[in-house]
Amino acid sequence: MNYRRLGHSGLEVSVVGIGCNNFGRRCDLNQTTAVIDQAIEEGINLLDTADIYGGDGASETLMGKALKGKRHQVVLATKFAGQMGDGPMSKGTSRNHIMEAVEASLRRLDTDYIDLYQVHFPDPETPLEETMRALDDLVRSGKVRYLGNSNYAGWQIASAHWIAKQNNLSPFISAQNEWSLIKRAVEDEVVPAAQEFGLGMLPYFPLASGLLTGKYKRGEMAPEGTRLAEGPMAERSLTEANFDIVEKLEPYAVERGHTLLELAFSWLASHPAVGSVIAGATKPEQVTKNATAADWILSSEERAEVDGLTQ
Ligand SMILES: NC(=O)c1ccc[n+]([C@@H]2O[C@H](COP(=O)([O-])OP(=O)(O)OC[C@H]3O[C@@H](n4cnc5c(N)ncnc54)[C@H](OP(=O)(O)O)[C@@H]3O)[C@@H](O)[C@H]2O)c1
Repeated sequence: MNYRRLGHSGLEVSVVGIGCNNFGRRCDLNQTTAVIDQAIEEGINLLDTADIYGGDGASETLMGKALKGKRHQVVLATKFAGQMGDGPMSKGTSRNHIMEAVEASLRRLDTDYIDLYQVHFPDPETPLEETMRALDDLVRSGKVRYLGNSNYAGWQIASAHWIAKQNNLSPFISAQNEWSLIKRAVEDEVVPAAQEFGLGMLPYFPLASGLLTGKYKRGEMAPEGTRLAEGPMAERSLTEANFDIVEKLEPYAVERGHTLLELAFSWLASHPAVGSVIAGATKPEQVTKNATAADWILSSEERAEVDGLTQ
């Protein structure tokens, strides 16, 4: 496993991470433990969850149990801002909600510190300076070690940077946004802003929910038990336009002795802005495959060819 500093920080993360939004929903405690144990075995250290994953904190709760005695081996990343109860103060990025949300996450994760605490979504109703000051207090208190954002626009990344700089507050070191060979909009504004202001990118949905593993085929039923076998995600992902892209990328990878899965990971990982590719997994076997999938270092020529195929 290769490791990188996340953004302009001292935090070292594995180039392949684990997204934990399956835990508590599609994975029970046994499966969650098996996936996490395999990740540690493969040298993966970054585990990314959120208070809302699994519903009502279930992902964090299972992770707290699965990580008993192993907490120090992982970089634990979680997020807040999603709705976690009733009433106006149970969501968002106000000082009030941040102070409650962090205590609840620490309790569920059964830990006394969070390595990377991320704003899950921007909150247009709370001044960014209030959010940055509350988050800085968490860093100074030791409850949180580093800060990240998610789903921010490029201008919000810039704005947060200058607020932190002018007020001597802890800066964001990571930006988590949807980014894959299927969804590339983030490359216009967010990735340049992240590079300019020292944030490492943590691309989410890197496998387009599994489409970029090659296990879904045009005109065929999705394999039973897979994420895209049914539901709104399937409609969003298994489109004719997406299959057009997949059917160009897969032969491109195979001709070069790789798989589509390896292209999906390696194309992201070989971008200089990327800190870690946090793919979700439901089985230890997937973790093993994914752990080496970012090893192909794409040349600039290959990146240009892939650009051509995904336009
Ligand atoms: N910040 C945000 O707003 C936000 C939003 C979404 C996600 N995220 C984060 O990003 C992470 C990654 O996103 P994601 O898990 O939703 O999507 P993803 O990584 O694009 O896809 C994950 C799915 O791909 C399948 N898969 C993974 N490895 C495989 C392999 N080797 N072979 C076959 N299938 C494989 C699994 O499907 P099956 O389930 O079919 O086994 C898994 O559930 C999340 O877990 C979460 O931490 C963040």
